[in-house]
Amino acid sequence: MPYENIFSAITMRGVALPNRLMRTSMVSGLATEDGFVTDLLKQRYEREAKGGVGSIVVEAAVILPSRSSYNLRISDDRFTEGLRALVDAIRQANPEPKIGIQIMHFLKIARSGWRQKVEDFKPEELPIIVEQHAAAAQRAKSVGFDFIEIHMAHAYTLASFLSRSNKRTDKYGGKLENRMRLPIEVYRAVRKVAGDEFPVGIRINGEDFTVDGNTLFQSTRIARRFARLGVDYISVSAGSRFEDAATPQPNMPPDPMSGYSGHRMSPWWWFPDMTHVYVAEGIRRYVRDGGFDVPVVAAGKIKTPYQAEQILKEGRADLIGLCRALLCDPDWPVKARQGREKEIVRCTACNWCLEADSRFEKVTCSRWPEGKLAAPDPFLPQTARPSELPENASL
Ligand SMILES: Cc1cc2nc3c(=O)[nH]c(=O)nc-3n(C[C@H](O)[C@H](O)[C@H](O)COP(=O)(O)O)c2cc1C
Repeated sequence: MPYENIFSAITMRGVALPNRLMRTSMVSGLATEDGFVTDLLKQRYEREAKGGVGSIVVEAAVILPSRSSYNLRISDDRFTEGLRALVDAIRQANPEPKIGIQIMHFLKIARSGWRQKVEDFKPEELPIIVEQHAAAAQRAKSVGFDFIEIHMAHAYTLASFLSRSNKRTDKYGGKLENRMRLPIEVYRAVRKVAGDEFPVGIRINGEDFTVDGNTLFQSTRIARRFARLGVDYISVSAGSRFEDAATPQPNMPPDPMSGYSGHRMSPWWWFPDMTHVYVAEGIRRYVRDGGFDVPVVAAGKIKTPYQAEQILKEGRADLIGLCRALLCDPDWPVKARQGREKEIVRCTACNWCLEADSRFEKVTCSRWPEGKLAAPDPFLPQTARPSELPENASL
């Protein structure tokens, strides 16, 4: 079989993922302004499920009551009915992929340019963050998701506790052991709710890519610690921090995508392919050297089935994270399996999708026919739009 590594199953706590392709979390802007599931949101995931991916991590769902327009929410029981309908719709489209949801606590930002920092939390507020994660996990499990991913990457709360930029002077900041304390408390609380048969993964930054941020040195230690605690997978991302964000325009909140670290999260066309595989590989090696076999997910401009197969074959990662590539062409997996690689409509890493998110618009792909909110079905290179790349871009 072509791509035998890609199309081999992997099991986490008895939950079998049919192949090694994981659709990593991608905010879509398709929820209602209040965070409820819409038909458009369901259609996005139904379309991706049909393309044969092995697992889908539904986009970062907000777990705290603070306002966050058009972001999916799991912060209250009012959201469970819609989330259950979402899971059912994905399963109906294709019962094979396992469906997870990323649960996310964010730091508040304001149009004045103000942003909340981890140092601002009073000690008595921290248990609330733990409880919010546990409550969200309970809801996720109750509506039928197959697994949960705790968001500990990018600009969000838990990543900011983990980062070297966390200068709290109490037992939740400063040295690494202290910085891991809150994320560990969260993991333990989520695990308690999830039980022993329900997979719980984490997503971390392998590198923050800021002057004062974590590097592979810290992230390898963080990963091994969570492996010891029993996480079921470690998804490795990078960047997207506020510390190096550009000064926002008047009346715009700061944007963690605007600085160098922001350019790393979803590597632009000018970055080399497989941009962050070395980071996932470093983490995997350190975790394995510690005696743990927890699967590690690599993501970041992995474009072709050949690249994905090589990464797996060479033991650089256990799962391949695809985000923009699947937004662009959800049929990437089935086309690879059927030897129709040439029919894959390639993501060109133009980041039209990412910029739409930064502009608070619905996330779409520049290669889809104009005005479409989903990839056509079927979708072939002949019917794709040329990419939004500058004229001098060489790929
Ligand atoms: C529009 C957009 C939204 C994203 N939203 C999330 C998110 O909610 N949570 C997350 O962990 N990563 C998010 N990411 C990052 C992706 O999951 C992924 O790690 C990154 O795009 C690199 O993978 P790729 O090259 O396959 O796209 C987002 C990326 C894009 C482009």
